[in-house]
Amino acid sequence: MKLLAIETSCDDTGLAVLEITEPAGKPVFSILASELSSQTIHTNYGGVFPMMAKREHVANLPLLLEKIFADLKNDSRTVEVSSEQEQRITKMLSHEPELATSLIAYVRSHAKPDIDAITVTVGPGLEPALWVGINAAKTLTILWNLPLVPVNHMEGHILSVLFQGDQTTGIQPIADVAFPAIALLVSGGHTELVVVRDWMQYELIGQTRDDAAGEAFDKVARLMGLPYPGGPEISRLAASFSSPSQEEDIKLPRPMLHTDDYDFSFSGLKTAVRYLVQKMPQPLNDQTKSAVAREFQQAVIDVLTAKTMKALQNFGAQTLIVGGGVSGNQELRTQLTAKASNLLDESHILFPKRELSTDNAIMIGIAGYFRYQAGDLPELESLRAIGSLEL
Ligand code: KG4
Ligand code: ZN
Repeated sequence: MKLLAIETSCDDTGLAVLEITEPAGKPVFSILASELSSQTIHTNYGGVFPMMAKREHVANLPLLLEKIFADLKNDSRTVEVSSEQEQRITKMLSHEPELATSLIAYVRSHAKPDIDAITVTVGPGLEPALWVGINAAKTLTILWNLPLVPVNHMEGHILSVLFQGDQTTGIQPIADVAFPAIALLVSGGHTELVVVRDWMQYELIGQTRDDAAGEAFDKVARLMGLPYPGGPEISRLAASFSSPSQEEDIKLPRPMLHTDDYDFSFSGLKTAVRYLVQKMPQPLNDQTKSAVAREFQQAVIDVLTAKTMKALQNFGAQTLIVGGGVSGNQELRTQLTAKASNLLDESHILFPKRELSTDNAIMIGIAGYFRYQAGDLPELESLRAIGSLEL
């Protein structure tokens, strides 16, 4: 089967077309096309403004739709859009009239693509942003008469690790993931430890009590005058650090490192960085910035690693899954792999391919396929954005 996947939960507009076959009873995913537009408008604000993100998604989606189907085989004909359908869609998209108009125009002027279902992120995320993807998905499923599969964005991050191939080689067979698994999810909005008992069976065992790990990277970057998103900036700076003598002066706390739970807290760490930086001669030189970046990054890695190791041990985990934007951090990958390989075979330590660690539609397509197979096809009208949707 072929799926169109749509992701608009934060500041990335993503579309992907996946083809799924099951040659030996196990799914193999091929990416037929993938488009991602990361909104640069937020760069100078240090974070994402929901209404700004929404406007960008409305502008991006029709453009990406045009691109993604341009090279794929289509049904030779366009479908008729009845005035009844047009009215239904205009009413449904009353908050995004521009989107309704552009999607209806797209469908009228393009052949129907050769796909069997549409899948879309319904939460968690920024509700105004989520609604754009959901409304686009509803519109296209009505006009092309297809099923619509809702997906939890965090499940997408978990399942993103399944795709290890390039565009054509597909994912590793699902039976190779041994359960129970521990999933560490580290993104801009979430920091969670989840026990995955079986496919699609999740139990949240710990989470951040304030800022998410990625959010801490973004806020610390902003403190040092670096652009959004801060994670890649901080990790680049940290990697450029070279003078060990200076490092000795810079010590930051490891919040909740020894607490008897699986929770995290990063807001105090960010405040500690603020006080530290305020005491330093201004403007900070590059050497100092990289020393702060390195110590901050190490503090985050230390707590993430310690709690993850504890969870692996206490739940007798057979597999470690790490997903979300922060899982792209090379130091986290190296250090967590070194520790976890004392308990697990390295082939059971799963990180997403680098380009799938941050938000994308491919992971939503993978999750959408599992949900479609499970028959999770709710009524179209009941589908809505849920900002704080849980796994
Ligand atoms: O998963 P994601 O793309 O979006 C959310 O669902 O939130 O994660 C984005 C977050 C941002 O906070 C960004 O700074 C962080 O992931 N991030 C990183 C790195 N790359 C992205 N954090 C640390 N190191 C990185 N290399
Ligand atoms: Zn995400």
